[in-house]
Amino acid sequence: MLTPFLFFMKPLFVMGPIFVITLLVLFANLVLKFMSHRWWWLIPVEVVVFIVFCFIYYNKAEPTRTYLDPMPKGATSLADVAREKQFHIGTIALIPGEDLYHQMVPSEFNSVTPGNHLKWKFLLKDGRVGEYDFSAADRLVDYAISQGARVRGHVLVWGQFEVPSDLEAILAAADDPRETLKQILKDHIFTTMRHFKGRIAQWDVLNEPLDYYKPQLVESLFMKTLGEDYIDLVFRYAREADPDCKLYLNEQLWSYTGEHSQLFLELLERLKKRGTPIDGIGLQAHINIPPLPTMEEMDNYLNQLAALGYEIEITEIDLLLRLFIDAEDPWQAQGDYAQQMVATCMQNPACTGITFWGISDQDNWYPHQLPYKIMGPFAPHLFDDTLNKKPAYYGVLKALQEGPNKAKE
Ligand code: XIL
Repeated sequence: MLTPFLFFMKPLFVMGPIFVITLLVLFANLVLKFMSHRWWWLIPVEVVVFIVFCFIYYNKAEPTRTYLDPMPKGATSLADVAREKQFHIGTIALIPGEDLYHQMVPSEFNSVTPGNHLKWKFLLKDGRVGEYDFSAADRLVDYAISQGARVRGHVLVWGQFEVPSDLEAILAAADDPRETLKQILKDHIFTTMRHFKGRIAQWDVLNEPLDYYKPQLVESLFMKTLGEDYIDLVFRYAREADPDCKLYLNEQLWSYTGEHSQLFLELLERLKKRGTPIDGIGLQAHINIPPLPTMEEMDNYLNQLAALGYEIEITEIDLLLRLFIDAEDPWQAQGDYAQQMVATCMQNPACTGITFWGISDQDNWYPHQLPYKIMGPFAPHLFDDTLNKKPAYYGVLKALQEGPNKAKE
C-alpha cells in the first residue's frame, strides 16, 4: 500500500540510488542528534540541506536541443491527417482569445478540451453553490466550434478538486445530506450540460474516482455521503440531461498493470453490471512517474476496456522529458514514445482520439506542482517554448499517417 509519503517519494526513489543513500545518511544523523539534546537544532538544518540537494540533483539540466537541426518537414499538419483518418487529435484551451490557441486550432488540432474553465468551481460566480458564469467557457467552446473542431467537456464531477467551496458546509448543515447532495449534483449536471447542449460532443462526467495513493475509491465528499452509488447517479443524471452526448469516465493511471489499473477494471465491471450509462473511458496518460509503461501493456489494457464494450480516448497526454533523460537523445526518445502511444491508440478500433494536455513547453503545469517541480527538465509537449516542432510532433504525425482510417473499422 502506498502511503502519501511513499507516493511523494516513489518517483525520487526510482530515479536514483543516490537519493536513497542520502536519505539513509540523514536518518542516521537524525537518530544521533535525537540522542543528544544539545544538537536538536541540526535537524531542521539537515532537512533544509536535503531538500536543496533534491532540487539541485533531480532538476537536471535540459539536454541540448538536437531537433533544431533540419528535420523532415512535411506540408501536412496533425489535424489534416487526423481529419483524413477520421480520428481526433486534441489539445487543451486555457485562455479565451489567446493567440496560441487560435494559431493551433484548427491548423494542428481538430479537438479541443477546455483545460480548466469547465470545472465546477470555475463555472460558479463566486466559487460557491449557486449562480453560474459561463462566459469564459463559452468563448473557449464557441471558438473551437467555429473552427470545426470537436469539443470534449472536462469535467462535471471531480471528488478531489474544484468542488464548490461551501459544499461541505452545506452538507454538514443539511437535515438529509444524501438528498441534499443528490439535488445539488443533479442541478449542476443539468444546468451545465443543458447550457452546452449540441456544442459539447462528449463530457468527462466523472474524473478520477480512484484514490491517488491507495488502491481504493477516493474518500471524497461524494463517496462519503452517497457511497459508490454516487458514480451511477451522476451518469444517470448526465444521460437524462443530454441523451445525445457521449458520457465518459476519466481516470489517471500511472501504470497499466498495477493494483490501480486492476481496481479500475473491477469498478468498470461492477458499473457495467449495474447498467450505468457510460459510453467511454478516458485514460489521462500524464507520463511522469517511472517506469514507462510498455506499449504491450497499454495495448492489453485498451483491449480489456474495449472488451467491456467501452469506447476509449486518451485524454491528457504529456510526457515528462525527465523520464527520457538517460537516452542518447532524450528529445528523440520522447518523440519515439509519443509516436508509439498514438500508434497503439489508432490501431485499436475502440480508441477514437488522443488529446495532448498542452501545446508548448512554455506553459506546462509541472513546474507548479509538487513533487514534479523538482523533476525537471519538463518539456512535456509537442512544441518547444519558442514553438519549434519537436521530435514528439513528428512522431505523432508519423503515427497518424501510418495509422488506419478509423471510419473503415
Ligand atoms: C490541471 C490544469 O492543467 C492546471 O492548469 C490546474 O492548475 C490543475 O489541473 N488531471 C486532470 C486535469 O484531470 O484537470 C488536471 O489539469 C491535470 C491532472
